[in-house]
Amino acid sequence: ASLAGRNTFRVPATAQLLIDVRKPAALAELFGYAALKSQPLLVLGEGSNVLFTRDWPGIVLAIAARGIAVLEDRGDDARVRVEAGESWNDFVRWSLAHGFAGLENLVLIPGTVGAAPIQNIGAYGVEVREFIAGVEAWDRREARLVRLDNDQCAFGYRDSRFKRERERYVVTAVEFDLPRERALRLDYAGVREELAALGMAEPTPSNVAEAIARLRTRKLPNPALIGNAGSFFKNPLVTADEAQRLRRDHPDLPAWPAGDGGAKLSAAWLIESLGFKGERAGDAGVSERHALVLVNHGRASGAEIWALAERIRGEVRARYGVLLEPEPLVI
Ligand code: EPU
Repeated sequence: ASLAGRNTFRVPATAQLLIDVRKPAALAELFGYAALKSQPLLVLGEGSNVLFTRDWPGIVLAIAARGIAVLEDRGDDARVRVEAGESWNDFVRWSLAHGFAGLENLVLIPGTVGAAPIQNIGAYGVEVREFIAGVEAWDRREARLVRLDNDQCAFGYRDSRFKRERERYVVTAVEFDLPRERALRLDYAGVREELAALGMAEPTPSNVAEAIARLRTRKLPNPALIGNAGSFFKNPLVTADEAQRLRRDHPDLPAWPAGDGGAKLSAAWLIESLGFKGERAGDAGVSERHALVLVNHGRASGAEIWALAERIRGEVRARYGVLLEPEPLVI
């Protein structure tokens, strides 16, 4: 089965078998089959956070279950259950249209609701972990549906238990606690300026979503127009000692405090400083808009994109002594 239309990098790849799962109840039966027990398994949502450098030697499950249900309305907030195959952005829009607040900074992030907890999606000063009450998943080890509370999910920056134990969990639904009112988070660079430019002096959550949608549209290449998977590297976390050395040697390098005196560095800055912004190697490239985004200008293979990524990593390491980790899943 072809995966070319199933990954937003739009690179060619195949799987032995591709199964669209519309009802999570079918998972019990599916995983009962010997073939599914023995073969490597990959779960895909919209394929917006994966790079195939080779074919997948096993089975690909695409979780397509949809639906949004209010489980409990407590007045000030509500517990909302969303099936894994729902579009993340559609859910953000749904939450705003139904008078909830909090998800506005996460507007326009590509992918499904089921993928959101896996890498703990985050943008403009908000991470999805702040709203997750629990995650329902098929546990292949226990061969049953389980529900993990927020504190069992081991959320971190672009990280979670589901990311570390990919072969074990298949996320089937996510439960959110959505407040009706919440202090807006406007401190991320550019947000207040964008609101001001729109003439939104006393912004509502929907206004913030509009401002951030505009920022994203300007800064990030649209995966519908040019193949990409958003940020290709995580912003690296460094120790206090390293942070101090880097601040001394490179005073312009943007860095944010990240606990214990350590810092989170701007990977985009590191990459741009080495002249990679807009770089092209055949059809593999670095976006001209954002140095952290690798793009497929047309016919690049995943291996070619990965080769460019490796070149960037090598140069960043040589110049700064910092190791960049890929942010999407690299097959
Ligand atoms: N910068 C450059 N060159 C560039 C772009 C940015 O030097 O080409 C520097 C600037 O100094 C800028 C700083 O990097 O101030 C930060 O840039 P930006 O606000 O675009 O954020 P980012 O750290 O590069 C992260 C997320 C994005 C998210 C934005 C906004 C990661 C890996 N990426 O990028 O998430 O949209 O913040 O919150 O944490 C994604 O994960 O796919 C993604 C797009």
